[in-house]
Amino acid sequence: MQKIIEGIASLPAALKEIGIRKLFFVTDSSYPFLCIKETIEALDVSEKVMFSDFTPNPLFEQVRVGIDLFRSSGCEAILAVGGGSAIDVAKCIKLAVIAEEGEKALIPPLVLQRLPVDGSGIPFIAIPTTAGTGSESTHNAVMYYEGAKQTVTNDALLPDYAVLEPSVLQTLPIYQKKCTMMDALCQGIESWWSVNSTEESKGYSRKAVELIIRNWKSYIFDNDPDAARQIMIAANYGGRAINLAQTTAAHAMSYKITSMYKLPHGHAVAVCLPEIWEYMLAHLEKCVDPRGDRYLSEVFDEISTSMGEASPEGAIMAFREMMEAMDLRNPVTESGKRSDELDILSRSVNPIRLKNNPVSLDSEVLLSLYSSILH
Ligand SMILES: NC(=O)c1ccc[n+]([C@@H]2O[C@H](COP(=O)([O-])OP(=O)(O)OC[C@H]3O[C@@H](n4cnc5c(N)ncnc54)[C@H](O)[C@@H]3O)[C@@H](O)[C@H]2O)c1
Repeated sequence: MQKIIEGIASLPAALKEIGIRKLFFVTDSSYPFLCIKETIEALDVSEKVMFSDFTPNPLFEQVRVGIDLFRSSGCEAILAVGGGSAIDVAKCIKLAVIAEEGEKALIPPLVLQRLPVDGSGIPFIAIPTTAGTGSESTHNAVMYYEGAKQTVTNDALLPDYAVLEPSVLQTLPIYQKKCTMMDALCQGIESWWSVNSTEESKGYSRKAVELIIRNWKSYIFDNDPDAARQIMIAANYGGRAINLAQTTAAHAMSYKITSMYKLPHGHAVAVCLPEIWEYMLAHLEKCVDPRGDRYLSEVFDEISTSMGEASPEGAIMAFREMMEAMDLRNPVTESGKRSDELDILSRSVNPIRLKNNPVSLDSEVLLSLYSSILH
């Protein structure tokens, strides 16, 4: 069972509880600028081996360097401080180190199996420095293998401790703040309508959506510290929700948009979501959730209510207005390339990921959705 703690001041106590002296410290290039750096530097450990040789949207080759470093370091626990990329790199390192199969556990074909591994031998503390992915509370990690996005899923990847310290968001550039917050909002919405949702996951989804809707303006436009705290909590709820229910079509359709147009993850997901939402609302007869189309219609109503809107149409409009207010624009195709790009995009979507979507989307629909997304 994961412990979720608020405040960096609780980190030394968490380390003491683990009783570990040699720490493998995974962090990204923002570390020197973080306001929690001093607390981390002052931790009472005998040795801290740092690994930060990776990029956002990390590559398997970069993770391998980290695996070798961990093995030669003799470290006993992992501390990950950073955005989703840093936390995911740390998770991949942990899995490769504990799995008998080593780094092969991270790539096809073994990555498709949830290998039975025991993660308790390497305690793991995660401190997110973005409020978006919720990776600190999921059992997933994302990296790129041979040019394609690879999700690694294993129960052993869920960090033992998630430490939420919202003051770290002070240094997050405004565009990153917007993108990561929209990732969290989309996680809240998608997990809510996912075919895998449960009463527990829907409770987390609701909290994520409500907290973001109440606080996003003060967080983005006024840099308000209390709003930042609420958004960080919301993102954590979003992570907990997708940990149970997974994401749906907006995430599945976003990955190629990120690689083709270099849009950060949250921005790419958020340009897809309203188009999919609108399509699903108009095609409830194509509902594949065994709970039925009436159930799905109620879920759409609940989502709109949580966004303070009277109808799903109003909620979609409110979502689009949010994007506009933050100047988060849709990707634009170069003239003459549009039809090739649409073709690549619609063939890129992983059908396994689409299975979580409550309304079926065939290749023709995907093509038409991408056509509305691309300006
Ligand atoms: N594991 C999961 O459950 C899960 C869920 C959703 C997304 N993801 C993955 O997470 C990654 C995206 O993570 P992200 O959106 O958090 O961004 P990120 O980790 O890629 O970081 C983006 C940039 O922001 C900088 N940064 C981070 N925190 C900062 C801070 N406080 N101050 C200044 N700069 C800071 C980083 O150095 C980096 O340059 C993607 O690979 C995505 O696929 C994982």
